[in-house]
Amino acid sequence: MRQSIVNSNVLVIGGAGFIGSHLADRLIAEGANQVVIIDSLFIGKKANIKKALNNGAILYVDDAENQEALGYIIENHAIDIVFNCATKPLNYSFINPSNTFLTNVLVLKNLLECQRQKKFQTLCHVSSSEAYGSAQYEPMDEGHPLDPETPYAAGKAAADLMLQTYVNMFDLDAFIIRPFNNYGPRQNFAGPMAGVIPLTINKILENEQPEIHGDGKQTRDYVYVEDTAEMALNVFPFVSPGESVNISTDQQLSIQYVIESIENVMNYQGETLKKPVRTADVMSHRGTVKKLHTLIGQWDKTPFKEGIQNTVNWVKAVKEEEGV
Ligand SMILES: NC(=O)c1ccc[n+]([C@@H]2O[C@H](COP(=O)([O-])OP(=O)(O)OC[C@H]3O[C@@H](n4cnc5c(N)ncnc54)[C@H](O)[C@@H]3O)[C@@H](O)[C@H]2O)c1
Repeated sequence: MRQSIVNSNVLVIGGAGFIGSHLADRLIAEGANQVVIIDSLFIGKKANIKKALNNGAILYVDDAENQEALGYIIENHAIDIVFNCATKPLNYSFINPSNTFLTNVLVLKNLLECQRQKKFQTLCHVSSSEAYGSAQYEPMDEGHPLDPETPYAAGKAAADLMLQTYVNMFDLDAFIIRPFNNYGPRQNFAGPMAGVIPLTINKILENEQPEIHGDGKQTRDYVYVEDTAEMALNVFPFVSPGESVNISTDQQLSIQYVIESIENVMNYQGETLKKPVRTADVMSHRGTVKKLHTLIGQWDKTPFKEGIQNTVNWVKAVKEEEGV
């Protein structure tokens, strides 16, 4: 029987990032005894965890690729449970492919070694639907082959396989959640590492034209980030060691629909720029929710337009606060 999150000491690696910061908030609300965050602030921001820090979370600005630092923090806080959200963005694969690959692998390797040395009990590793590559069949279930198309995704796939082998050989309590595309507040909206939804919102706010790469028919399974954090905690007691579960909606939205939805919500009347297709852009990503539903039953997902409205409100608020 897995130890409950309630009253446990929980470490979130990459906890100042987009998904990790929502997870930290959720863990505190759930009744974790202590939430500790490690983040190198490569992309993460202290602003993302303002609420968590006010509610008692502790932040270490450190690199989880450093085994000694990681082991020290885990022991110092008598950590029971670890959620691993550390990653470098997929777009960073284009600039520094080897480092993107290695971060995805090394942080998990360090965690598995700590766990093998019994420094903590349970590991929830956050993988990605990117590890599947373009769909060979749809909707993709957890048995879909791992066929990555970027160094980022290769790192995610390699990490997943490493976790499975450590569970097989050393009987560790470690499992994988595999979110599909997330969107929502706290997703990076500026610069080359920005996600398409916040980037488009920011462009419209900056009076620039939104862009579509390729024909816009690429599809994604978009999950609102607070739903992902909730699902991660809901499935936590039920996923068997070595197994994975999709965090998805089983709903396909084309990029064209996504951009048009943002334009509608923001009342944008201008043109949409057509750009060349991006290298290694997978055509389709739809994940089945069958296993998720088997584990925790049906769940009410945040309606897409509501999620977009929340994200627009957040981007506006940050820009106002930062005066940009
Ligand atoms: N955002 C999505 O759409 C999405 C979809 C599927 C899976 N995921 C997965 O969810 C997890 C979190 O992704 P995210 O979107 O929140 O990304 P993010 O970039 O916002 O968060 C990752 C965090 O890890 C930190 N980090 C990077 N290298 C580190 C290191 N060596 N040591 C400590 N911290 C480090 C970064 O500063 C950042 O705050 C990742 O595993 C990612 O693969 C994300």
